[in-house]
Amino acid sequence: MPAISDTLDPPTQQLKYLLAIETSCDETAAADLDGDFTILSNIVLSQDEIHAPYGGVVPELASRQHLKSIDPIVRESLAVAGISLDKIDVYAVTQGPGLIGSLLVGLSFAKGLAYYFQKPLIGIDHVQAHIQSAFLEHRKISFPALALIVSGGHTSLFFLKKKLRFDLIGRTRDDAAGEALDKIAKFLELGYPGGPVIQKLAENGDPARFDFALPRMTDRSLDFSFSGLKTAALRIIRENGISKGYPQLTDFLASFESAVVRALLENMFRAADRLHPKSLILCGGVARNKRLRAEFEKRAATSSLDFYIPSPKLCTDNAAMVGGLALEKLKSEKKPPFSLDLDAYPRSRPNPSPERSAKNRD
Ligand code: KG4
Ligand code: ZN
Repeated sequence: MPAISDTLDPPTQQLKYLLAIETSCDETAAADLDGDFTILSNIVLSQDEIHAPYGGVVPELASRQHLKSIDPIVRESLAVAGISLDKIDVYAVTQGPGLIGSLLVGLSFAKGLAYYFQKPLIGIDHVQAHIQSAFLEHRKISFPALALIVSGGHTSLFFLKKKLRFDLIGRTRDDAAGEALDKIAKFLELGYPGGPVIQKLAENGDPARFDFALPRMTDRSLDFSFSGLKTAALRIIRENGISKGYPQLTDFLASFESAVVRALLENMFRAADRLHPKSLILCGGVARNKRLRAEFEKRAATSSLDFYIPSPKLCTDNAAMVGGLALEKLKSEKKPPFSLDLDAYPRSRPNPSPERSAKNRD
C-alpha cells in the first residue's frame, strides 16, 4: 500500500488559490492567497486574554484553544476571500519552530484537508516566514539582504544572498527581545503581552532618565543578549522602588525600551557594515514597536541601502506570511517538498552557514 504522501502530486496546472495555516504559538491564523501573492484574507485570532492572567503563554492552554479556534478561523478566512475549500490548489502550514502542542493542531488540520481534497501540502519555517512577510508588500527587494527578526521567541540576524537563501549569522544567546519586554512588564504587573503595553506607557517618558549599558559580545560575534539588560532593569526597579504607581514609571519604561532598540540596531548596523547588503529588512512582532521602527528608519535613511518593515499586521504572527513563503518556494524551487509526512519541530533548525562561522567574526 502506498504511503499517504505518495498519493499527492504537486500542482501541475496554474496555481490559483493557496490556504495557509499558522498555529506556532498563541495566535490561531489562516490566510488565503492567490497565485500572484495577493492576500485575499488574513485572519488572526489572538489568545492574549487567555494567557494574560499568567503573564505569558501557557502551552497546554494554547493548544487547547487552537483546537477550538482552528475550524472557525479557516472558515472565516475562506468566507472573507470568497472561495470554497474545493477551490484550494495547495495547503501551507507552519512546521516549526514553536510550541509542539500548538504546531501539531495546525499540522493535523492541514494534513486532514490536504488528504481529503487530495491536494499538496507544504511545510513552512515560522522564522523564515516572518522574513518573507516583507516580500509580500515589496516584490522587488534587492539581494543580498540583511534581515533582523525580532519577536517574543526569536531575535536573529539572517543574511539572504539570494531569494530563499536564509543564512543565520547571529541570534540571541539568552532571551529574545520581545521576551525581555514581556518579562519586565510581567514583573511590574503591567499586562500581557508586555511589548505593546510598554510602548504605550513609554510614549510620554524620558528615554535618557535611566542609564542602561548595552550588551557587548566578548568574542565580537553578531549574537545578541538581553539577559544583562533585563537584570539591569530589575536592579533599577529595586533600587528606585519602581512599581505600577511610581511617578517616573514612564521614564523607566522609555529608557528600557530605548536600550532594547539600541541593542538591536547596533548589532544590525554592525552586520551591515561588515557584509555590505543592498537591503535591510526589519520584521517580527517587536517590529511593530514605534520607537524601533522610527530609529531603524532614521539610521537606514542615512545609509545608501534600501530598507523595509512590513506593515504592523504582517509583523506579528499571521498566516499570510506562511502562504507568501510557500508560494515563493512553489514558484522558485524545481521540486518543492510536498508531503503528508511533515512533523513539527520545536527549535530553529541548525544552519551551519559559512557566514556565521567565519566571515562575521572580526
Ligand atoms: O512575532 P510574534 O507575534 O510572535 C513570536 O513569534 O514570538 O511576536 C510577539 C512579540 C511579543 O513579545 C510582544 O510583546 C511583541 O512581539 N510586540 C511588541 C509590540 N507588539 C508586539 N513589542 C514592542 N512593541 C510593540 N508594539
Ligand atoms: Zn512569530
